[in-house]
Amino acid sequence: MKNIVIAIDGFSSCGKSTMAKALARNIGYLYFDSGAMYRAVALYCMQNNMIQEGNIDIKALRSKISEIEITFQADPETKNSITFLNGVNVEHEIRSLEVSRFVSQVAAIDFVRTEMVDRQREMGKAKGIVMDGRDIGTTVFPQAEMKVFVTASAEVRAQRRYDELTARGDKANFQEILENVLQRDHIDQTREVSPLKKADDALLLDNSHMTREEQMVWLIEEFNKLTKEC
Ligand code: DC
Repeated sequence: MKNIVIAIDGFSSCGKSTMAKALARNIGYLYFDSGAMYRAVALYCMQNNMIQEGNIDIKALRSKISEIEITFQADPETKNSITFLNGVNVEHEIRSLEVSRFVSQVAAIDFVRTEMVDRQREMGKAKGIVMDGRDIGTTVFPQAEMKVFVTASAEVRAQRRYDELTARGDKANFQEILENVLQRDHIDQTREVSPLKKADDALLLDNSHMTREEQMVWLIEEFNKLTKEC
């Protein structure tokens, strides 16, 4: 069976990463979290005083972007992907609400996107990958053999993010999270470079009322259908 590229795009906090990870594990593919790369760049800006009064120092970031090393390694125990920023494990930090507040601004910068998209294409060269994000099916891999666009209501997504944060012991406020979800949706959909939108040939998956198991059955069915055709 031929290896393919699977692009999973959609709104923030709709369970894309969990779903993409589980799918990759099930079919023996590599998983790449493109959002983690933008989060790592946002964290880099925060650590290097590149954010003043809520705004990114574009000039400073431009001069450093090619030197920011972002790599992934599998956790030896859980096999989950861990993000490293210049050699340091930042998997936990990049998921904080502080990073979530800045990441859409960072992801809207043209040279940041160009750099990340180049790196993502490199990761997908060998095929046999599942990559999730916002522009994977439209910009990074427009030729991907399988594209899925995931959505769920903003309230359902905010609740999931709230549960995720509280489960790991972080403080969380539902209203604040809902506002962050809505704000990120707006920035992601209206930015000039690679706005979030469903590719014409992507399969639509609204998982507001689906269990993870139902989702997986659906995905595997679609994957089997497509790989039979390849
Ligand atoms: O999926 P996530 O919430 O970890 O993504 C973090 C941010 O990065 C989010 O604001 C959207 C942005 N992003 C993007 O613009 N393009 C991608 N391919 C992935 C994420």
